[in-house]
Amino acid sequence: MCGIIGYWNLKKEAFPILLESLKKLEYRGYDSFGFATLSNTQLFVEKQVGKVSSAKCQELPGKVGIAHTRWATHGKVTEKNTHPHTDCSGKIAVVHNGVIENFQELKINLSKKNYEFLSETDTEILPYLIEENLKQGTFRDAVIKTGSILKGRNSFVVLNSETKEMIAFRNGSPLIVGVAKENTTSEVFIASDIQAFLDKTKKVMYLDDNQIAIIKENPEFYDVKTKKKIEKRLIEIALDAEEAEKGDYAHYMLKEIMEQKETLIRAINQDDKDLMHVAQEINNAKGVFFIGCGTAARVCHTAEYIFSKVADKHVNFIPASEFENYKHFLLPETLVIAVSQSGETADVLDALKIAKQKGSRIISIVNAPESSVDKISDYAFLINAGPEKAVASTKATTSQIAVILLLAYACAGKLREGNRLLVDVAGEVNDMLNPRYDEHVKKLAEKIYQKENIFIIGRGLNYPMALESAIKIMEVSYIHAQGFAGGELKHGPIALIEKATPVIALVANDEVKNEIISNAIGVKSRGAYIIGVAPENNQVFDYWIKTPDVEEVASSIVNLIPMQLLAYHLGILKDHDVDYPRSLAKSVTVK
Ligand code: AGP
Repeated sequence: MCGIIGYWNLKKEAFPILLESLKKLEYRGYDSFGFATLSNTQLFVEKQVGKVSSAKCQELPGKVGIAHTRWATHGKVTEKNTHPHTDCSGKIAVVHNGVIENFQELKINLSKKNYEFLSETDTEILPYLIEENLKQGTFRDAVIKTGSILKGRNSFVVLNSETKEMIAFRNGSPLIVGVAKENTTSEVFIASDIQAFLDKTKKVMYLDDNQIAIIKENPEFYDVKTKKKIEKRLIEIALDAEEAEKGDYAHYMLKEIMEQKETLIRAINQDDKDLMHVAQEINNAKGVFFIGCGTAARVCHTAEYIFSKVADKHVNFIPASEFENYKHFLLPETLVIAVSQSGETADVLDALKIAKQKGSRIISIVNAPESSVDKISDYAFLINAGPEKAVASTKATTSQIAVILLLAYACAGKLREGNRLLVDVAGEVNDMLNPRYDEHVKKLAEKIYQKENIFIIGRGLNYPMALESAIKIMEVSYIHAQGFAGGELKHGPIALIEKATPVIALVANDEVKNEIISNAIGVKSRGAYIIGVAPENNQVFDYWIKTPDVEEVASSIVNLIPMQLLAYHLGILKDHDVDYPRSLAKSVTVK
């Protein structure tokens, strides 16, 4: 949520580089965007509403600059609310990611000092606070003092045209410094995500919470509390810039769905010793909690069923945003397992903070290496799905389920069996993702894209997958979609079924197969148009999407594939930007 990029060098014009980098951060927010560059001692600012990838920008002068792509939290999507925000004299420009929880109180204090606010944002207080604090100290002191009084998870980068300095402050959302050196030239980047500058350098230094970075030829880091300098080593990261590009695909979402041909195999390529070790911890733990948000929460919900079926073990699923209510159950022997693609979701991080305070062990299943969730964990399983850029999560989801399956099999002492099953599943997914299959799903999308409501039903572990399918359809097609446990429909929601209402039944070859078919028959008798996502056809289905007949516990993976494709095609038929759906952001770094 919100993308920040800062660039410093002595030779090249900054604007084209900032623009390119900002486009790579667009997935973090795409309501509006802006730049501030520094030329001699003058700041130049440009802001626009809309997506940076489709905008025409006027080039700003200077070799140093900052830029921002916004996901609105405080204040509407207007040019006035767009970052960078500047101080009264126009010498200081700030780009910010986060929510300043005490901004109202700070704003009142600034108003008493006659600061006039031009925007509705919380961010606007930052340049004014820095301006105010500059009266008593250096720029660095002013940034530290300002950052230190903020409540909530906040990161920002400030450009000062008078001192010609750029300083980044982090307490929450990620900021990473990249350094590219060629002969005698240095280029220094600071960004919310490595992707912003990966085509320029793979040498990075991570800014941690409560630290500042002075962005210059040789960046310097300081601890905010002690004000002492921190030595950091440049780390070379093994990421490929091309992996994050769309290539020949029209959309990231489609590319990422198709990548599941390989990502499952990458996900299960875990160290057996680590799996066994964590499995032992799960078996010995006094309470196991799976936590996550959105799609990752649905994965955690599936984990309840997977552990119950595979390992005869009860684990709890709690949406991370609700975790606080369960904190009195946490003991040092409790295991909290966080599932997150980005590793930066604020609700997950807050939940993990509680777990840490209680002394509980933290395990994570995460895609982004070196993310905050990865770092806070006692042990992290990286799913290695590669960058997931489309807002709608697809390949990360199935990879997370695969790792959970491995853990469950390891808990049952049957890791090898789990591995074999997942290799088979990966092969089946590879076969499914062919043009004919895609075309068949697309035809279904053509039949139902004008419907106002779509219902999805499932039983057992296909119940959370029904919920996940609904998330996918809603976020990219904006069609109202709702998932239900098959047995729950008759307790109320059946009243919503009218003639030709699409109801999708997710079916596995399991012991509840007959029940879910009965549920489908029940809604068909009220006029529903029944779509079966199932290994076998059934006369109740008006449209059948065949899925491979894998073991019941792996049906959550194979049944999701057509649902992801369906969501994608519904979004396309609705003429939506499926990669960047309205009001959403890839990584939700505010509560
Ligand atoms: C998925 O399609 C969503 N865009 C969203 O629910 C997402 O899964 C959620 O915000 C959690 O993100 P994370 O996995 O990065 O923590």
